[in-house]
Amino acid sequence: TAGAAAVGGIALNAQASSGPAPASGGLVFDTDGYTEQTTTITDANGDDHEVIYRFWKAVTYVAKPVDEKYQSLNVSAPVKIDGTSVDASGAPILFANSVGGYMPSSVADATGVGAGGTGGPPGGGGGTGKMVSLPKLALAAGYVVVEPGARGRTLKNSAGEYYGTAPAAIVDLKAAVRYVRANKGRIPGDTDRIVSSGTSAGGALSSLLGASGDSPLYEKYLRELGAADASDAIFATGAWCPITDLEHADGAYEWNWGTNVVQGTGDLADRTVSKELLAQFAEYQASLKLRGLGGFGTLTARNYDTYLLKQYMEPSATAYLKALSDADRAAYLADNTFITWKNGKAGFSWADFLTHVGARKKNAPSFDAFDLSTGENNLFGTGTTGTRHFTAYGLKHDTTGNTGTRLDGDIPAKLRLMNPMPFLTGDLPGGKSGGKPNAHRSRHWWIRLGTKDSDTSHTISANLAAAAAALGDDVSHLYYWDQGHGANTDPGDFIEWIAKVTG
Ligand code: DHB
Repeated sequence: TAGAAAVGGIALNAQASSGPAPASGGLVFDTDGYTEQTTTITDANGDDHEVIYRFWKAVTYVAKPVDEKYQSLNVSAPVKIDGTSVDASGAPILFANSVGGYMPSSVADATGVGAGGTGGPPGGGGGTGKMVSLPKLALAAGYVVVEPGARGRTLKNSAGEYYGTAPAAIVDLKAAVRYVRANKGRIPGDTDRIVSSGTSAGGALSSLLGASGDSPLYEKYLRELGAADASDAIFATGAWCPITDLEHADGAYEWNWGTNVVQGTGDLADRTVSKELLAQFAEYQASLKLRGLGGFGTLTARNYDTYLLKQYMEPSATAYLKALSDADRAAYLADNTFITWKNGKAGFSWADFLTHVGARKKNAPSFDAFDLSTGENNLFGTGTTGTRHFTAYGLKHDTTGNTGTRLDGDIPAKLRLMNPMPFLTGDLPGGKSGGKPNAHRSRHWWIRLGTKDSDTSHTISANLAAAAAALGDDVSHLYYWDQGHGANTDPGDFIEWIAKVTG
């Protein structure tokens, strides 16, 4: 079984016996266990930098690993940048996961910084945007980079049991943060200035890591793995196109993209299904009682289109058009006559915006499919069961022969462990309101999403931003005009933002 790997994990972690006293449970970072590497990194302005750095590879971060291939991390710390020595001992730490699709993500075979990860967009980049590596940019800026692997939904042991389904990935990332913090003073960088990054499923996990810091709800899972006894709170959160709030995502999707024809097949998503899901969104959004940014009132299914348009879509188009030459802007506007350009500002209707985006990417329901065919159905698998329903609606309409009338008993708790929203709104386990927002959450949020990304609803990121802002947290959220899933078109700004918020 997968558990057999645990023995090797303990043995590996015992090698620092002659060093300082163990930080916690024998999880001692081997300060000398690096190789020195030299690489050339092109920064966000297109300038090349020669970076000499120390690279620690495949460091197992839990005492009782289930699978070390995934439960290990790489550390990169700059020594010299463009010939000048750097002291990174107090530098911020970029904690960059490369999870995509809630799939397993390993850095164990990486040969250097920013090369890790399997599946999905690379750590903080990709999609239709310029390919960027946030780990590389961060290293060239003088930061320490920690790249954690994490288990993912498809992993199965020889007994046929799934061991990477929810909540494995978030538990692993928390264990990795705990390892880093337990090794304060050994591991390079400021362990109280950990800034997380991730894209898509990785963006969802990054926001969850930020929202759920030190939550006791994960304790039993962390203890099972022999995670270090330290805080798993992080300082700041970077999340690109987070695919999160999964149990409400089907309704949100129909609210946003319900009128758009399904991609590929050309078929309309089932209209009855779409309408029923839409009603669920209205109810959920009303229950959140979130106020929009910029003085906008309480967000509802009725006004969210105006909100997205005024707060995000028009400013996004404006920024895009402003950056173009006069000739290119004129050409773009000639091709996109739905946009009016007046006094240096773009204006358009929500309906025209939806037409401009075009075909939706997913079917209805987008996440809890009746035939259990989505990655998310697999994410909520357990034991030898590969896929399960995680919404009452999905279960009710099941087409796979499941005659159950109630969701499996462990599902509500697992949804709670996978969703950043209740940690911000103060909802208690089980979805009851009246609790307190998590005081150990990250207080700085960088959230980005392409306007043409229909992998989930635009309300998912906007709700996350509104929930954090409602608590007084520092929120930078914008949408990249005409960009699709996984885009990161302002990575240099993120690198500067890290310096600003951690400085
Ligand atoms: C990702 C994309 C999806 O559409 C989804 O449902 C989950 C994850 C991703 O790219 O990580």
